[in-house]
Amino acid sequence: MSEPVSGRGPRKARGFGIVGAGVISSIHANAIASIPDARLVAVTDVEPQRAKSLAATHECAAEPDLDALLARDDVDVVSVCVPSGLHAKVGIRVAAASKHLVVEKPMDVSIEAADQLISAARAAGVKMTVISQHRFDQGLIELRRLLDDGQLGRLVLGEASTKWYRSQEYYDSAAWRGTWALDGGSLMNQGIHYLDLLLWCMGPVAEVTAQFSTQTHQMEAEDTALAVLRFASGAVGTVGASTAIFPGFAQRLEISGTAGTVVIEDGDIIRRELAADSVGPGLRGSLTARGGAQSAAAAKPAGLDIASHAAQISDLLDAIDAGRAPSVTGEDGRAALAIVLAVYESARHGRTVRLPAAHYPHDNQDGSA
Ligand SMILES: NC(=O)c1ccc[n+]([C@@H]2O[C@H](COP(=O)([O-])OP(=O)(O)OC[C@H]3O[C@@H](n4cnc5c(N)ncnc54)[C@H](O)[C@@H]3O)[C@@H](O)[C@H]2O)c1
Repeated sequence: MSEPVSGRGPRKARGFGIVGAGVISSIHANAIASIPDARLVAVTDVEPQRAKSLAATHECAAEPDLDALLARDDVDVVSVCVPSGLHAKVGIRVAAASKHLVVEKPMDVSIEAADQLISAARAAGVKMTVISQHRFDQGLIELRRLLDDGQLGRLVLGEASTKWYRSQEYYDSAAWRGTWALDGGSLMNQGIHYLDLLLWCMGPVAEVTAQFSTQTHQMEAEDTALAVLRFASGAVGTVGASTAIFPGFAQRLEISGTAGTVVIEDGDIIRRELAADSVGPGLRGSLTARGGAQSAAAAKPAGLDIASHAAQISDLLDAIDAGRAPSVTGEDGRAALAIVLAVYESARHGRTVRLPAAHYPHDNQDGSA
């Protein structure tokens, strides 16, 4: 492909494929379309009509199967948008074809599958990012900067909460939804976004004590989960997720340290109380005007903005060109998955689960995944 210039300087143009032409695929297609040096060239789905429909909207090819999509020389990167429990199985084929990977969250639904995918990407020497688009939301970028500057002091408490609403029709809309084998419940599917943000801010988790239940839906997996966490740093926290809360509320992250607290709702900082912001005794830190707003995604599965997906995909393209690890790696995806699975194990067996150090997120030494 030709080599146009992106907003961040010259970058090699890349052709994209999408495997899985369901709900999330149009977010990927629109995000790719918004990146100047990215172009969607082909899509595929086991339901050919879905691939044809997505291809018609985005003026690209509908390939009859994954092998045909992977055989194309003009596909450099593949977005894996199939049901969660198939991510590794499909992703391993993508890596084996030497294509870079954008893998939707969760990375898969078992640690074994996640490890196989990480190994496959490493062996093939391709880059992989696991979607956690909210790391690219404006409020999270600012919070990360404050944390890196040490402005919250030593972290004490971190809380992540997803109180969303999904109808029974949502779970009935595809056979894989709400199953343990291919999806998981409210924490694996919906809550993992803010769980990943919590881990990103607070660091590795050492212990998990949890409860879960399926209260208002007919499905195998949980529709409500709540866990108390002890972080390796000694700080504590909570993570909660439900799809049974009517009418659905903003996703919330609250990070508190010895020098301040930042509260995020749906990607924006709604409250910031920092010792460093005080201009005199008794004066409070700044408080932004926004608050309490309900995101589209709180009640609608497809109610997402494309900007943060586009930023994460763009970061992968930078990483490919620079030979560095993407900002969100396979290891990060695995770390969030490990905590979800620990929550499930704790809730099932009524005991605290200790995470082995091997489950902690760690730096990507070879930068390949
Ligand atoms: N990042 C986000 O905010 C976000 C939002 C929604 C969904 N997701 C994730 O995206 C993934 C897909 O979710 P969805 O809601 O789009 O599901 P969906 O059921 O709407 O779409 C999945 C598609 O994959 C196809 N498919 C199944 N097996 C396949 C295979 N082996 N090869 C090719 N195609 C296959 C299905 O026919 C279907 O069209 C899930 O992992 C989900 O967690 C992420």
